[in-house]
Amino acid sequence: MTVKKGQEIELTISDIAFGGKGLAKPDGFSIFVDKAVPLDRVNARIIKKKKNYAEARIIDILDHSAFRVPPRCEYSGFCGGCKWQFLDYNKQLEYKTKTVIDSIEHIGMINDVLVHPTIPSGPIFGYRNKMEFSCSDKRWLLPEELGNEDIKKDFGIGLHVPGTFHKIIDIKECHIQPELGNSILDDVRKFIKKSSAPVYGLKSHSGFWRFLMLRHSAAYDQWMVNIITSHEDRNILQPLSDLLMEKYPQVVSVINNVTSRKSSVAIGEYEILLAGDLFIKDKIGTFEFEISANSFFQTNTRGAEKLYNLVKKYADLSGNETIVDLYSGTGTIPVFLSDSAREIIGIEIVESAVSDARKNAIKNGVSNCRFILGDIKESLPRLSIKPDVMIIDPPRVGMHKDVIKEIEKIKPEKIVYVSCNPATMARDMGMLKEYYKIEEVQPVDMFPHTYHIESVARLIKK
Ligand SMILES: C[S@@+](CC[C@H](N)C(=O)[O-])C[C@H]1O[C@@H](n2cnc3c(N)ncnc32)[C@H](O)[C@@H]1O
Repeated sequence: MTVKKGQEIELTISDIAFGGKGLAKPDGFSIFVDKAVPLDRVNARIIKKKKNYAEARIIDILDHSAFRVPPRCEYSGFCGGCKWQFLDYNKQLEYKTKTVIDSIEHIGMINDVLVHPTIPSGPIFGYRNKMEFSCSDKRWLLPEELGNEDIKKDFGIGLHVPGTFHKIIDIKECHIQPELGNSILDDVRKFIKKSSAPVYGLKSHSGFWRFLMLRHSAAYDQWMVNIITSHEDRNILQPLSDLLMEKYPQVVSVINNVTSRKSSVAIGEYEILLAGDLFIKDKIGTFEFEISANSFFQTNTRGAEKLYNLVKKYADLSGNETIVDLYSGTGTIPVFLSDSAREIIGIEIVESAVSDARKNAIKNGVSNCRFILGDIKESLPRLSIKPDVMIIDPPRVGMHKDVIKEIEKIKPEKIVYVSCNPATMARDMGMLKEYYKIEEVQPVDMFPHTYHIESVARLIKK
């Protein structure tokens, strides 16, 4: 099939590809179509042409797929936060399972792995316990807002449109966070608008207001408000903190992270406590955790309980095991497994997360978990014990190849691999397959309306 950049073409979408785009295959040639759903018939324009594939953008939907549903969010189709609100939830789950299977087969080159159907998230709205909203001096306008002279374009607080890093959709309501988060977001927006301090420009790299991070505790219905600024100025921030503390009894922590770095990361070089505590408390199962602003915590608290129960099931512990938990974050997995093992050692690179983990173990009356601060690449080879079970829960990039080599030397009897990225999970399991049999994989949906998927895999030494 020959297609050219700029060409208009009629396509029937047959599948969903990696990254959530619709896939059409006229004459076997792959065309990826943004925002398309299987069984849509669309008129599209080719925007990129390569030897083996092309990318296209919808001009009109000629026939709407039966799998399309009305999105709850007015920004659906534009906002990069969740890209699948228009896709039926059961179909989302089906495609997530398929993504995991395809990744294992095509990236890991492993066949005949038992992959179970994806476990759904309990609630599919209001499930996210952490949101990061960016501030920008350039507001991205919705199509119906274009040309409206009453709308000021010099400020937005919200989320990005994919492909336009410096402009921000001014989000009034985000449905994947609990409702009160929208009220807090609106109060912060109004305060910033009135403030004399400038908003940070994502191109100019100057200005004061950078991000707003909200954390919610599902167990206690409490909030942490973390305001990220380019420099320290308590005179500007304290009135905002006072306003939030007075208006919302649910806000138990107001923090200012200060960062002069240009990169778009909402983590400060240091932080200042403006009101309340430096942490928020939440529960997974019967265990309570304190979470600092910059520590990792699973973003779907109810989903995390399902995930950890699965980790426990796959680890199949007798109570006598020594476990090493790589990438242990705030120590949630070690604490969750503490009553089923002899000893658990967590390794984690972020200092605040390790200090949270140590506190969390003490607060939960757990004495058989210890935590090592360091990069796994350096800390794992120095470990003197030989674990029976290894839990591995790396960030999206997966494991460094030196870490995999080290695991092959240690050769624990069992590995439970937890992953938020099926591609890197499959790659890593592909490297381990010489020594381990991949017994089964269970995808768990922690991120409804996005194509992201969490999975747990059970690996047994051959
Ligand atoms: C996906 S989180 C898992 C956290 C934890 N298992 C949980 O369920 O909350 C990945 C963690 O790995 C940590 N991390 C990333 N790179 C690391 C490295 N090279 N060495 C040690 N920890 C690392 C991150 O700080 C983060 O806490």
